[in-house]
Amino acid sequence: MLDASAHIVIAGAGQAGGRAAEALRARGFQGAITILGEESHPPYERPQLSKDMLAAADTPITYIKRAQDWSDVLNVRLETNSPVTDCDADRRTVTTGDGRVFTFDRLLIATGTRPRRLERLEGRGPQVQYLRNVEDALRFRKSIRARSRIVIVGGGVIGLEAACAAAKHGCRTTVIESEPRLLARALPSLVSDIVAARHRSHGVEFIFGTTVTDATPGGVRLGNGAEIPADLLLIGIGVEPVATVAERLGLPVTAGIAVDTCGRTAAPDVFCAGDAALQWSRCHGRDIRVETWANAQNQAIAVAGNMLGEQKDYVDPPWFWTDQYDLNIQVAGDMLDSDHIVRGEPSSGRFSVIAMRGADLVGALSVNAAKDMAMLRRLLAANRHPARADLESPAFDLRAALK
Ligand code: NAI
Repeated sequence: MLDASAHIVIAGAGQAGGRAAEALRARGFQGAITILGEESHPPYERPQLSKDMLAAADTPITYIKRAQDWSDVLNVRLETNSPVTDCDADRRTVTTGDGRVFTFDRLLIATGTRPRRLERLEGRGPQVQYLRNVEDALRFRKSIRARSRIVIVGGGVIGLEAACAAAKHGCRTTVIESEPRLLARALPSLVSDIVAARHRSHGVEFIFGTTVTDATPGGVRLGNGAEIPADLLLIGIGVEPVATVAERLGLPVTAGIAVDTCGRTAAPDVFCAGDAALQWSRCHGRDIRVETWANAQNQAIAVAGNMLGEQKDYVDPPWFWTDQYDLNIQVAGDMLDSDHIVRGEPSSGRFSVIAMRGADLVGALSVNAAKDMAMLRRLLAANRHPARADLESPAFDLRAALK
């Protein structure tokens, strides 16, 4: 345990940064904690940005805790509007954009990700928006209330949850996805097709296998030459890690900031958690960045313990959910490069898909079958691998495999 004279600095005031600070106090750390955040808000939850906040105009922002509780209850110094712009490994200092210098004994990089941009489209035709923070969500919410013609670039989670909201508000909505199907990074094609059909039944149109190459005065031009009228472009083509701190420390940044199973980077006393961290995933059999609410919370809590000297591997299988119309879809582990067992009848609208790689259970997906998912997540977390024949049997009780 670090003693009470130590100072822990957390770069990033998102879900991971906030949960890490809470966890440090919960584990009894009595030294100073400073959170340095780029945004003007205290830490808040992001799933609402593409869900509840778009659905209703009066949805309040869900903060992790009240602004004054950071100082009054947790004795944490929270500095908003304070992006970390520099870092010195030898002197153990970080510097914020306004020139303030903070010395640290342990540093947590929790700077997350930022949307990949399509700069060539910005400022030339229809308004271009992204969806990552509260201000983005409020701006998009206002736009869809105007019942505009909206082109969404990217048929991933952001694009599709935004399409739901736009369609519900009566906007003419077209999604342009460069892959041949939706959510190809996370879902098997059986489920991509169900999602596409549900969107189409709400009037959303899809164009696959191409992208937006240019903005025109009244809309956009696609790679296949077609032109589509649009008042607004929402870009949801994935994210990239915010890696300024890691780069200043001389850490290699590839798809993310590499950490070991305890969340340690290659720099002494510097850790990383949340969307930016690149960590080994047993289900995937490789290092991945996990861009989920659950990871931002649970990895950060685990890494906070390791910053204080615990040596606990964080091995939770990745898990996320998305809500689209009446579909609740949950995904755990890795659904790609695997064989699939379907449990239940897809046409009933309630089923699950289990992913096997050889004899190993590596992933699970549920459509309106949250109870199945709860069992499957527990199996994945416990590293249990029930026999394929059992999983294929409709009569097999998943709970039995947990005993
Ligand atoms: P994403 O990676 O889920 O989807 C991006 C999509 O854009 C992919 O389908 C990709 O093929 C497509 N794409 C990439 N380049 C393109 C191009 N030039 N033209 C057309 N399509 C292109 O990323 P997304 O949707 O931007 O989400 C961003 C982040 O927000 C992710 O980290 C995601 O996990 C997170 N998020 C999570 C949610 C959840 O867990 N339910 C909900 C919303 C966002």
